[in-house]
Amino acid sequence: MQIAPTIAELRESLGEARHAGKSIGLVPTMGALHEGHLSLVRLAKKQCDLVVVSVFVNPTQFGPTEDLSKYPRTFERDQEMLTSENVEIIFAPSTEEMYPPGASTYVEVEGLSERLDGKSRPGHFRGVATIVSKLFNIVQPDKAFFGQKDAAQVAVIRKMVRDLDLSIAVMVGEILRETDGLAMSSRNVYLSPDERKQALVLSQALQQAKDEYSRGERTAQTLRNTMRAVFTVQPSAEVDYIEVVDWQTLLPVEKAAPGTLLAVAAKIGSTRLIDNIVLPAAQ
Ligand code: PAF
Repeated sequence: MQIAPTIAELRESLGEARHAGKSIGLVPTMGALHEGHLSLVRLAKKQCDLVVVSVFVNPTQFGPTEDLSKYPRTFERDQEMLTSENVEIIFAPSTEEMYPPGASTYVEVEGLSERLDGKSRPGHFRGVATIVSKLFNIVQPDKAFFGQKDAAQVAVIRKMVRDLDLSIAVMVGEILRETDGLAMSSRNVYLSPDERKQALVLSQALQQAKDEYSRGERTAQTLRNTMRAVFTVQPSAEVDYIEVVDWQTLLPVEKAAPGTLLAVAAKIGSTRLIDNIVLPAAQ
């Protein structure tokens, strides 16, 4: 496995691979890897000849009061995990490599970037769209792999790819959960044992709304009320949003249907967690 710390080194290796006719898969990450990331890597390995995993904690997607400096950094462990998955290349640039002094160009997906997480984290999706376009330009992958857990991010990236006519297939891997339902996240390490239990409220709220949908309920407001009621039982969770939206536009729907996104975000202690469910086709 090669570790490329610079764009030049990465481009050289990828040039050779491309010349040899290999298809390239990109799994963008901010490190602190867990099984959720590894499931994306496995998907990429199945579908592409060569897989690049980028490990870069992107400062432009963190707000001024957010957890950039304390974001978990576990590079040695990440490297071991990716070696076991037979990943060909890790791209691990420095901040200066990605944002040289004076860099002042950003990519903004208007509209979508102000919805869901974008509403409470102004500038977050501008940072995501900017770094993901830079990674797309540097790696020029055939396919890029993202987790459904960041459903709003997926919507923003899909729109960016469409709007800018990028010739990259955006692939989405399912959410991986702990046995009790908690969605896997690099931020789960911040939770105290007590908060870890409280955090179950997110997946429980989603599950109850999904069950109600399976029993025939279609009114979005009713599904939202159901989720809100579950959160009421866990008052220590500070709700950011409880939404029933179209996954493409991230706008609220009145009637839920297959493909509708149920999405929640809440702070448990000082840790902001998100989770979602995409409603399935009727059985
Ligand atoms: O989902 C993430 O980990 C990040 O938002 C991403 C896509 C790697 C961009 O920094």
